[in-house]
Amino acid sequence: MTITVLGATGSSGRHIVEKLLAQGHPVRAVVRKARKAAALQAAGVEVVEFDLASPSHEMFVPVFASAETVINAAATGSMTKRQAELIDHKGVVAAVDAAAALGVKRWVQISMMGSGDPGRLPGYLRATGRAKDAADTHLTRSGMTWTVIRPPWLTDGAAQGRITVGDSVTEGSLSRADLAAVAIASLDVTTTHNRMFEVTGGGAPITDALHGLA
Ligand SMILES: NC(=O)c1ccc[n+]([C@@H]2O[C@H](COP(=O)([O-])OP(=O)(O)OC[C@H]3O[C@@H](n4cnc5c(N)ncnc54)[C@H](OP(=O)(O)O)[C@@H]3O)[C@@H](O)[C@H]2O)c1
Repeated sequence: MTITVLGATGSSGRHIVEKLLAQGHPVRAVVRKARKAAALQAAGVEVVEFDLASPSHEMFVPVFASAETVINAAATGSMTKRQAELIDHKGVVAAVDAAAALGVKRWVQISMMGSGDPGRLPGYLRATGRAKDAADTHLTRSGMTWTVIRPPWLTDGAAQGRITVGDSVTEGSLSRADLAAVAIASLDVTTTHNRMFEVTGGGAPITDALHGLA
């Protein structure tokens, strides 16, 4: 089963693609700039360009055609309200609608801890939180089987393999390697299906923690 990864050249997206390939999954790497994915292309991975800032039906057809499963790790790096609205809200909403219309069945969304309650966030992150929450809510009504993962501050540290999950968990940090493992494990662990949850590092082994969402 080919898994379509949006934001495949991002810091978390790269981990997701590497892990999927290591597990033997065919991957469609969806990227803003194909030149950044030259190594993936050279390794035989299908690479498709897209830009959430200017979504169109024509652009989304090669992204989602014949795709069953999507993991979205794309997001703006900017914390301005304008960019958050453009990319993290409207761009993701357009992508979700296009995916559902083109027959995608499963969508795993990387969101952000505190998005459901922006008052928990520092001021500079509130616009991003609101934009992500709006997109997450839209996804829950898309008709696809969805998972929304809300991580805290991400690090480039080594995978620990242990997490704590819940509707609301205490702020901490999580390595991008562990976030990638959570996103991929969510594909198979049905307690994450049609479920939104926060996650932080430390606690139980990843699969056990996800089963505990039941
Ligand atoms: N960083 C944190 O501490 C933190 C905390 C909580 C949640 N999160 C969330 O976790 C996820 C992964 O974060 P990260 O820091 O690992 O990601 P990242 O390195 O910032 O990667 C983001 C990806 O999105 C792509 N992108 C940006 N603008 C785009 C556009 N207009 N159209 C299409 N793609 C676009 C980037 O493309 P390029 O490769 O071309 O740049 C990149 O691949 C994001 O949803 C982020 O909001 C992050």
